[in-house]
Amino acid sequence: MYYICPMFIRPRRLRKNAAIRSLVEEVSTPISSLIYPLFIEDEPSARNAIPSMPGQYRLGKEEILPEIESCLEAGLKSFCLFPKVKEALKDSAATYSLDAQNFYLQSIQSIKEKFPEAVIMTDVALDPYSSDGHDGIVKDGKILNDETIEILAKMALLQAQAGADIIGPSDMMDGRVGLIRKNLEEQGYNDTLIMSYTAKYASGFYGPFRDALDSAPKAGDKKTYQLSYKNKQEALLEATLDEQEGADILMVKPGLSYLDIIQDLADSTTLPVAAYNVSGEYAMVKAASEKGWVDEKAIVEEILTSIRRAGAKIVLTYHAKDFATWIR
Ligand code: PBG
Repeated sequence: MYYICPMFIRPRRLRKNAAIRSLVEEVSTPISSLIYPLFIEDEPSARNAIPSMPGQYRLGKEEILPEIESCLEAGLKSFCLFPKVKEALKDSAATYSLDAQNFYLQSIQSIKEKFPEAVIMTDVALDPYSSDGHDGIVKDGKILNDETIEILAKMALLQAQAGADIIGPSDMMDGRVGLIRKNLEEQGYNDTLIMSYTAKYASGFYGPFRDALDSAPKAGDKKTYQLSYKNKQEALLEATLDEQEGADILMVKPGLSYLDIIQDLADSTTLPVAAYNVSGEYAMVKAASEKGWVDEKAIVEEILTSIRRAGAKIVLTYHAKDFATWIR
């Protein structure tokens, strides 16, 4: 038997055993690269399961502190909080988002008081507070950009004042990063980070999240502000703008179907890139593993690693706590 050349080169040598494989491993997923999104609500003792996100809960203020504590013990240090606002407090101007006493801001404060070492990322968008279920102000069926970003900038400042480390504008309005940054600088919050949802696509993968917060749009969809999944070029434009406007970290969302976008951004920016492994991606993994069709631990590690391999330094994922527990 003859080969094109004698087999001096045998790639399998580097796969010979686990120790050798780990010597040449290119990508890993340390717990320190993960951010765990958590849902909170205004019922002190609540621990409400989210049916479409098995294993995730909406936590009241008595539950959130022990939850953060057990995550810290598992080695997780970073959290992103989303509020479930009572229907009666929602209105078309998202007024409750700017109430300095609202439970979201209070939770940030109490978490940072008890666990100053925890990194807290917030959500900046109108949808949890809006009776229209949109990320911006709705008028005659249109989402108003410039009116919305004024509110977002105020919301971000309140969050920074409550002690947030990272502001997370998830709204996709034009110019919001710049206005948020300007407001923070003017008020002396010059060390508050902004992780911009730079390339947030209009996606079917957000369904379970909208169930969790009851925040689905009442009319229309989000396609006039979130990106079309048929495009990648505009993700680069969004990235350029967010950089110029003063973002510290650029995020791509969702994660798994958008690995090419993560890679493009990582190749074209000097800022760290993050990716959001979203609720629908989580739900699919949980559903298939509950049926015994996939091995949950194996595919979670594979998914998170693929997102890191594409170029994301940071991964927001609902698997964070489980993953941290498994790999310890
Ligand atoms: C809205 C927001 C969404 C998510 C985070 N912030 C959904 C949406 O745009 O409707 C989705 C997160 C997930 O699916 O895990 N500002």
